Amino acid sequence: MNYDKFLQIFSIGTLCVLFGLMTLGGYVSSSGVGLSCPHWPLCPHGLIPSYEFLIEYIHRTTAASTGLLVFLTMIFVLRGKHSLKSTKMFSIIAAAAVVGQITLGAIVINEKLHADLVTAHLGLGLVLYSSMIYVVINIFYTNLKLKSSLSSSKSSRGDNSNTPEVSSPT
Ligand code: HEM
Repeated sequence: MNYDKFLQIFSIGTLCVLFGLMTLGGYVSSSGVGLSCPHWPLCPHGLIPSYEFLIEYIHRTTAASTGLLVFLTMIFVLRGKHSLKSTKMFSIIAAAAVVGQITLGAIVINEKLHADLVTAHLGLGLVLYSSMIYVVINIFYTNLKLKSSLSSSKSSRGDNSNTPEVSSPT
């Protein structure tokens, strides 16, 4: 598998995990179990999950894994030869948002679910989610452009140029 294809699969995987985390966050909020695990970063039994705070425990551990995935996506995008400037920029925004979101999650717990903070947690989550969607769409767009310029340069006989041009979406 080439690097561009790998990046495509990795970023869509990250977006799917993030979608699951946002949905789970909605469940934590609507079912009122936000303070079932009152400490931070670990729940009362350390790393061992327990039934009484299972949902909140899963939300936190998934948040940690998502943070790692979003950071790795940023590193892979920054290292990608064909990454557009805007893809790089939004992958950095997503990484910054994930750090902010995890920090805000801790403050939400410490401040006993203050309404303003929970609203900010939702808002920043949406910034993170939309930035990741932008990154994924851009990666797909770039790969599609690369593929089509490669196949057209192959089919045009006598054309020696094999470096595909990738134009930036507006
Ligand atoms: C990338 C990381 C995270 C994302 C994307 C995320 C996303 C969300 C979302 C979308 C909600 C629902 C908000 C609402 O319906 O108003 C939520 C709720 C919540 N999150 Fe997170 N979260 C993250 C990390 C964390 C962390 C690290 C903690 C705690 C240490 C945390 C604690 C909570 C709590 C307690 C609620 C429920 C608030 C309430 O009861 O109203 N979150 N999260």
